[in-house]
Amino acid sequence: MGVGVLGVGHYVPSKIVTNLDLEKVVDTSDEWIRTRTGIEERRIADDMDTSDMAYHASLSALEDAGVRPEELDLILVATVTPDTAFPSVSCMLQEKLGAVKAAAMDVSAACAGFMYGMITAKQFIETGSYKHILVVGAEKLSKITDWEDRNTCVLFGDGAGAAVMGEVSENKGILSFELGSNGSGGKHLYLKDDGFLAMNGREVFKFAVRQMPESSLNVLEKAGLQKEDVDFLVPHQANIRIMEAAMEKLGISEERMAKVIQKYGNNSSASIPMALSESVKDGKIRDNDVIVLVGFGAGLTWGAVALRWGR
Ligand code: UT7
Repeated sequence: MGVGVLGVGHYVPSKIVTNLDLEKVVDTSDEWIRTRTGIEERRIADDMDTSDMAYHASLSALEDAGVRPEELDLILVATVTPDTAFPSVSCMLQEKLGAVKAAAMDVSAACAGFMYGMITAKQFIETGSYKHILVVGAEKLSKITDWEDRNTCVLFGDGAGAAVMGEVSENKGILSFELGSNGSGGKHLYLKDDGFLAMNGREVFKFAVRQMPESSLNVLEKAGLQKEDVDFLVPHQANIRIMEAAMEKLGISEERMAKVIQKYGNNSSASIPMALSESVKDGKIRDNDVIVLVGFGAGLTWGAVALRWGR
């Protein structure tokens, strides 16, 4: 048997903040944000918290998978913006969903969190311990964003993406993975004592431009595949220039890469599942496609997965 994705879903709050809106708040311009990052607008969850967005994305993923909340064995929520330090978002989600037999825990690996969640889920399913696992990436980054800091406030947005994982047929599902960390780079992206995010953009950029292609190529090699075998790439949506660098190194054309950064900005752990879910729903990912998911983030952390889509 294989271990793969049975269904996907995502949720974004309705409030849109455009680059023009931000021009009124900090010394920036639509032109700078578009050309340096690829972002045009982002969603902001005023009256919702991370667990609420996780709930809506999860309902959609469960419906897509044809799995009932009571059938879930485990809930993993990747987030760096939990509603509160404890209880975990995954426990809040367990209650909201009525997932009566599910264990629940949060995963803290920043923008690579969803990859860490997927690979953790894979182990439980492979050993036969669990059958259905809900993996969610959900973030309310607006609450740790300093809206007076132009270096960071133009980059982030709120949202959630989810996948139900379980057994799929032998030749489908996850083919290979890579997870990694380098704590010495923690100083480049962290939460300050005042509760706001701080980032050395240039350092993170350099790391990401190297790591995304490297990890993607590593998982292809582990799966016995070539770059030419990749049908679709789902990269973390941090900066269009980082995404394009990965695209070029893999020799992938723009139509074969998930791109939602212009609408949503960087949603940390939610970016990859949101981009995956939208791509599936838009018909860009089809049965039997080889796809690569790849992310990097604070920690530093990174993760990549090669999988053959379908059940
Ligand atoms: O999810 C994972 C975490 N995050 C990332 O992956 C982000 C990785 N880094 C990046 O995407 C880019 O480094 C940024 C988008 C954050 C910055 O782009 P950059 O091309 O690396 O710009 P920079 O930091 O080198 O700054 C260039 C100039 C500076 O002005 P001076 O010093 O050259 O006069 C900045 O002060 O742009 C200025 N600048 C801005 N100008 C207008 C920085 N932010 C803004 C802004 N509007 N919002």
